[in-house]
Amino acid sequence: MSTPRRVPTGLPAVSLGDYAERARAVLPPDVWDYVDGGSAAEVTLTANRRALDGVAVLPRVLRGVDTVDLGTRLLGRRYAMPVGVAPMAYQRLVHPDGEVGLAAAAGAAGVPYVASTLASTPVEEVTGVGADVWFQLYWLRERALVRDLLDRVVAAGCRALMVTVDVPVLGRRPRDLRNGFRLPADVVAANLPGGRDALAHAGAPGVAVPATAPTDASFAPALRWTDLAWLRGQVDLPLVVKGVLDPRDAVEAVRVGADAVVVSNHGGRQLDGAPASVTMLPEVVDAVGDSCQVLLDSGVRGGTDVLRALALGAAGVLVGRPLLWALAAGGQPAARDALGLLAAELADALTLAGCADPAAAAGLRTVRAG
Ligand code: FNR
Ligand code: LAC
Repeated sequence: MSTPRRVPTGLPAVSLGDYAERARAVLPPDVWDYVDGGSAAEVTLTANRRALDGVAVLPRVLRGVDTVDLGTRLLGRRYAMPVGVAPMAYQRLVHPDGEVGLAAAAGAAGVPYVASTLASTPVEEVTGVGADVWFQLYWLRERALVRDLLDRVVAAGCRALMVTVDVPVLGRRPRDLRNGFRLPADVVAANLPGGRDALAHAGAPGVAVPATAPTDASFAPALRWTDLAWLRGQVDLPLVVKGVLDPRDAVEAVRVGADAVVVSNHGGRQLDGAPASVTMLPEVVDAVGDSCQVLLDSGVRGGTDVLRALALGAAGVLVGRPLLWALAAGGQPAARDALGLLAAELADALTLAGCADPAAAAGLRTVRAG
């Protein structure tokens, strides 16, 4: 007889996957699909999990480890663990707590929260919760708008600037196309001037628009490394380049002065058929050496995945969908619990691998699983 997988909602979640089931039960199906889905045939989306599962970490024994300290330095600041909340658009789609709720959860857990350009809450309100906020920039067509946004980000007290470079255009997402997915009228790109209406729906304010509309109307597709070099000169914040897979691009990022790169395929939402990000991690780490920190995202679902990334040379990871699942399932408290669960899992994984802290995991060997 098969074991029922559904977790009764009254019980505490014991893995991040438990939040997926809860989120799916409460979200409208088209919103679930927007969050869960990937681009094209979702090959890369699936590859992210398969590749992480394919990394086997060799534990060390008799290392005298009883307690672990998860504390980590990222971009020169101290965080409670080597984990950040990935930038994700329109968080009020999944729960009224939205960005404020998830940022507050990150603050309580002592990890950085990355606020998206496409947040449904203005960046000033997000930094207002007191968490360490990094701002994720999508490059807008008008450079003056980019400048204005940068001024706001600095004035709001953001700690770092993360430029996402894998979205010249939004990937084609068949689930959204089939569902005719539209952003509801009360969920807007709150950081963009005039929100969604001015950009995407001139003449018909307050009407639901396709999720691609703000992106199509406002993103600059033809960016070059010289634009990033310009940006580097504009802002005196640590610069993170998110969305590199080719080690040559990571080297370019270092050349323009990046303090960190995020090896990412955008959670399988951009170029389908691109490799799993964990597959490219070791080459990127090799290519940049000590010249910048390397973070990983795409498919991280638990403490053992964080250990895998650390063993392959990452300084830390970003976690995306699982935190939206938790937010959807129970707002800010559930998101806080999810981050606590991840910390407990990571502490467990490090202990079992004989590591007293995340830095020690860099000395672990990995082999192909199986
Ligand atoms: C994203 N991602 C994303 N990235 C970014 O730079 N800016 C953004 O606004 C968004 N928006 C967004 C919305 C949703 C619903 C998802 C699921 C993802 C990508 C995100 O930062 C990250 O790269 C992936 O989510 C990581 O993969 P996992 O952890 O979701 O598998
Ligand atoms: C996404 C964009 C907004 O992945 O980054 O949906």
